[in-house]
This record gives sequence, C-alpha cells and structure tokens, in this order.
Amino acid sequence: MAEIKKVGVALLGVGVVGGGTYEILTTKREMIKKNDNIDIEVKCVLERNIERCKQLGIDEKIVSQNIDDIVNNKDIQIVAEFFGGVEPAKSFLIKCLKAGKSIVTANKEMFSKSWPELEAAAKEGGAGLYFEASCVGGVPVIRALTDSMQGNAITGLKGIVNGTTNYILSKMSDEGVDYDTCLKEAQKLGYAEANPTADVDGFDAMYKNSILSSLAYRKRVPIDKIYREGISGVSVDDINYGKELGYAIKLLAISKCLDGKIEARVHPVFIPASHPLASVKGSFNALYMHGDNVDDVMFYGRGAGALPTGSAIVSDIVFAAGKLEKPRRFYWEDDVTVNDDDFASDFVSKYYVRVAGNKAAAEKAFSGAKIEILKSVEKDGQVIFLTGEAHESTMKNALAAVDSVKGLIRVED
Ligand code: HSE
Repeated sequence: MAEIKKVGVALLGVGVVGGGTYEILTTKREMIKKNDNIDIEVKCVLERNIERCKQLGIDEKIVSQNIDDIVNNKDIQIVAEFFGGVEPAKSFLIKCLKAGKSIVTANKEMFSKSWPELEAAAKEGGAGLYFEASCVGGVPVIRALTDSMQGNAITGLKGIVNGTTNYILSKMSDEGVDYDTCLKEAQKLGYAEANPTADVDGFDAMYKNSILSSLAYRKRVPIDKIYREGISGVSVDDINYGKELGYAIKLLAISKCLDGKIEARVHPVFIPASHPLASVKGSFNALYMHGDNVDDVMFYGRGAGALPTGSAIVSDIVFAAGKLEKPRRFYWEDDVTVNDDDFASDFVSKYYVRVAGNKAAAEKAFSGAKIEILKSVEKDGQVIFLTGEAHESTMKNALAAVDSVKGLIRVED
C-alpha cells in the first residue's frame, strides 16, 4: 500500500462555514485517509472567538490570532479562508501564497476582484488556487468547468447562483408575499449576506458570474464588464402577469460567448415555466450550461450553508493536497482578460413591458425602434407587451418616450 500523505491545514476563521469545514474534516478524516490516501490535519485556526473554538472542540493550543504563525509554519501546506469581504482576507492569502501555501476559499467577492494578484502571488510562491466553494456552494460546478468540459467550447451559461434572491422571488411568486417581508425572512433564515444589498442588488451573483464566465470562456471576465440589476424593483403584479403568460421569475447570472464575443449580465428574467431552472425553488441554486459537444447540462443543489459549503471546501482541500507538487493556477503570464473588442456590452434580449394605459404611445415607440411586438394583452386597465429581440440600448431609448412604463423584465427562452 502506498504511503499515506500527511497534509497540514490552517483555517482562517471558524464561523458558520469554517465551523462546518472543521466538523467535516474531523468526522471524515479517517474516511478521506482510506479513500484518498491523504491524512489531513488541522494544524492552526486563526480565530479571536475562543468560545467558538471551544464549542467546536478545537484544542486551544492550535488557536492563534497572528497570521504569521501560519505563514511561518512549515507543517502547513494549505490555508482555507472563511473571513468573507476583501480585507484582510486578500492580504493574508497573498502572504500565504508567497510562502508557498495553496489557498482554498469561498470568498467570491475577494476572489473575483483580486484574481490576477492572487495568481501572481501563487506563481511567486509555487502554490495553487482553489475556489470550488465560491460559486453555487456545495455543488461542484467549478471542477465541472475545469475538469469535465475540456472537450467543449462553452457557448453560454445561466445560473441561479444566489439563494437569498431565489428564496425571495420563489416566495413572492408562490405565496404572493411582498418583497420586504420575504427579505426579512431570508435574513432570519441566515441565507442573506451580512449586508443584504450584496444579494438583492445582484453583487453576489455578479461576483459569481465573473468567476464562472472566466472559467467557461478561458478569459477573465472582470466584474466591471458585467451588467447588474437586482430584484428590488420586481413587483408581485409583474410576477403574477408573467405567470399568466407562462413564465417564472428568476434572478439569473447569464453569460454567452458567441462568434468570439462575450456578454455577461445579472438581472431578473422571465423564463418559461417549463424550463428546468424554473423548478429551482427556495434557497436552492442551479447552473445550466451549454457545451458544443455535450449539449445542455445542469447542476443543482445547495448554494449556501455550513455543511454544503464546507463540503466544497473539504473537496478542494483534498484536491489541493493531491496537487501539492503541481499546484493549480489559471491566469498568469498571458493577458487573457476580455477587452472591449471581445465584449458585447449592448446585449440583445426579448422583453416583457407593462404600461399603464396609452397603448398607442407604446406601440408607436416600438414601431419607431423597429421592435417587433410578439403579443400584447390588456389586463386591469394596463397593457402587457412581449417583444421580439432588441438591443438593450434600443429598448431603453424607445421606452424613454413612453411615460407610463410600470414594469420591464427581460425574457430568456
Ligand atoms: N448570500 C449568498 C446566497 C450565500 O444567498 O446565495 C452563498 O454565497
């Protein structure tokens, strides 16, 4: 039998996900040793809350408040970070990478904003970057993109990548509960970020879209290239009218790579009620992708929570432990960031538009902009239009002349 590889790990923070990770590493240590021939030992925990450490059964001797205890510890090869936010996570991880320690993180904000700097530090230290838990929590979408889709050019992805907004929209849609009440419940249930703006205004989904799209198209798609709109403007009325027309509402992270042009966006979308993503309810997440050979694939599961996210972190730790001699890195020497020539900023979509009265003004605006009306329905003194495809700028310019627009939602088939 091959000799068991001993690997030392440090955990930066043992809050919700850090605690879940510690629990899995402890309860599954023997199983991982047997299955993967790797013995993973937590050698240091960076945590101020000693009570929390005691609660988790962590030996006080391995608890520290000084990152240098980890940076200088030769027995630690992998550092997993659970702080969230950009700093101090970024500075601590860069220090660790430069010292040759591979990093594992669920921190989508820090990772999407700092990927090139982390990459440079990883190269300097001969270490690797692992971030499976940063997108779609416990669902293994990153490794699917990097290790299972190599035989494909990926042409597009659509994801429900934020559990808070999916919970809110599902509840508004299924129970008719208003937005503010749903948000409060999502916060109570612990799905929402500390500042729920990150969820409801689409920032969290934008960070995840940046990471997923960069991997899908093998070009870094920075967050400033991603159109972003949150869910606070979505009304129960529009959700109900959309339902009557056969649509479900979702906040989607969408990206496409067509004819060499990449587009990426996050906004509320009407999708057909028969689309597989429409059945993803509550705080669940899903990623739907198209590869030119595999066709459509879909991944579904829990995008947040201590144990689901901890599951992805532990998977990364085991994966990283197996790759210490040839650590995983992505973007370094070549400039592979999308530039303006690679990017389609003015995307094309179909639209749902609701206007109060004055049908003729809306029809005139659509006709003047050469936007086809596929269907129009009169309801409760209002008119709902479903249009053919139009550039976003064309639609916005056309509607600037209509003063009674009450709702606008993009439609994806
Ligand atoms: N706030 C995030 C969500 C947590 O609601 O999906 C997981 O990234």
